[in-house]
Amino acid sequence: VTPKWMLNNPVSLVSTEMNTLAKNIMGLIGSGHPTLNRVTSYYFEAEGKKVRPMLVLLLSRALSAIPVEKRNNIKIDFTDFETAPVGKDPLQKFLSSKPVENFSPLQIIHGIQSMNPLTKEASPIPEKQFDDERGILPKQRRLAEIVEMIHTASLLHDDVIDHADTRRGRPSGNVVFTNKMAVLAGDFLLGRATVSISRLKNPEVVELMSSSIANLVEGEFMQLHNVAMDSGNNDLLTEVTPVGKLNLRTHDYKVPVLPPQSTLASETLTREQQQEIINNAFRYYLHKSYLKTASLISKSCRATAILSGAQPNVIESCYNFGKNLGLCFQLVDDMLDFTISAKELGKPAGADLKLGISTAPVLYAWMEDPSLGPLIQRHFNQQGDIQQVLKSVELHNGVDKTKKLAENYRDMALKCLRDVLPESDSRSALEFLTNSILTRRK
Ligand code: FPP
Ligand code: MG
Ligand code: MG
Repeated sequence: VTPKWMLNNPVSLVSTEMNTLAKNIMGLIGSGHPTLNRVTSYYFEAEGKKVRPMLVLLLSRALSAIPVEKRNNIKIDFTDFETAPVGKDPLQKFLSSKPVENFSPLQIIHGIQSMNPLTKEASPIPEKQFDDERGILPKQRRLAEIVEMIHTASLLHDDVIDHADTRRGRPSGNVVFTNKMAVLAGDFLLGRATVSISRLKNPEVVELMSSSIANLVEGEFMQLHNVAMDSGNNDLLTEVTPVGKLNLRTHDYKVPVLPPQSTLASETLTREQQQEIINNAFRYYLHKSYLKTASLISKSCRATAILSGAQPNVIESCYNFGKNLGLCFQLVDDMLDFTISAKELGKPAGADLKLGISTAPVLYAWMEDPSLGPLIQRHFNQQGDIQQVLKSVELHNGVDKTKKLAENYRDMALKCLRDVLPESDSRSALEFLTNSILTRRK
C-alpha cells in the first residue's frame, strides 16, 4: 500500500503548519520602522526550501508516536497559550470549562490544537491516545519559526560577506537594500528570534539555540580565516569552547593542529606528511561544516525532542540525526556549487572557488594531486588557478567522491531515525526528506 504521504510529498503532513509559518514569523518581526520591516521580511517573501522548519515539524510529529508512558510529563504553561492557534482567551475558557485535572497535559494540548480557529470551539478531548493526532506542540511550532528566523538572519549576513548578488532567484538583500541595512536586518531578526527562544521557557532549549547562533559565526570565521592553511597555528581551536560552567556538545570534531604554513607547499615533505596535512584540512573542513550548517539543524532537532518530553537516548539520536543530515546537506551544497548553473540555483554558482574557499571536491582532488597545495593556500588568487583546480577536480572525480561521502552521512542519519522512532507516516516523510537531500538541485 502506498503510504499517504507518498501520493503527495512530505510537506503535506505538516502543510497546515508550513502554510502559517511565514505569517507567524511576520507576527514576530514587526518593528516600528517601515524600511526595517521591508528588509527583514524580504527573504521570507521568496520561496525558500524551508528544510529546517519542515524537519522540526515532521520530527515533532514522529516523536509524538512514542507512547506517553515512555515520555516525561510535559508541563503546560502560559507560553503554550500564547502560541496556540486560537490565542489565549478562548483557550482559558476552554480549560476552565472542563475538569482539566482528569487529563494528561498531552491530551489538553490536543484539545488546544483541535480548536477551530473560526468558531473557537474545541472538539472534545478524545479518550484515545494522543499519538495518532497531529502531534505538534505549540512550542515545537514556535521552534520551527525560530529556526527559520535564525537561518534567514545568517543568509542576510552571508550574502554581505560573500558579495552575493542573488538569493532565492531574486536580487540579494545587500544589493537591494545596501550592506548596512542587510546586516542590521539580520541582527534585528536574531534579536527577535532570541526573544522567542526565551519565551519557550526551557533553559536547555535556550542554551541549545543560543549556542547554535554562536556556532554559525564560529563556522563562518573558520571559513573566512582558514587557520589550518593560512597560519598553521590553530591551537586556539583545539579546545571545546566552554560557555560558563556548562559545556554543551558544541564541538564534536577535534580540530587538527597543523604544521606551520611554510611546510604546506614544501616539496621536501614525504608522501605521508603530505597526506597528514590533507587529512587535517579535511577534518577542519568537516568541523567548519558542522558549525556553519549542521549545528543549527542538529540542535533544533535536539530541542524538538526535549520539548516532546523524550528520554535521553531519543534526544541523543535526534541530535545525531540532525548532525548527519546537516553534514550531508552541506556536502551536497558544496557539490552543487560545481555542478549546477546560477540560474537553476537561484544564487551565484562556482562561488566558492571565486571566494578562495576549498570544499570537499577540491580536497579530494588534492589527495591525488599534491600540486594543488600552493593554489589552495593562496586561495586561487593567481591567474589560471581556478581553471587548474577545476581540471584536477574533474580528473580525480572530486564531485563523485563528495557525493559518496554525503551518502554515508545520509545513511547514518537514516539509521538514527530508525533506531528510536516508531514507524509512522511522519518518520517515512523524514526518511523521504533525508533521501531527497542528495537529489536536490537547489
Ligand atoms: C551559507 O553558506 C551560510 C551559512 C550556512 C551560515 C552563515 C553564517 C554567518 C554569516 C554568520 C553570522 C550568523 C548569524 C546568525 C547572523 P554559503 O555561503 O556556503 O551558502 P550559499 O551558497 O547559500 O551562499
Ligand atoms: Mg554565500
Ligand atoms: Mg558563505
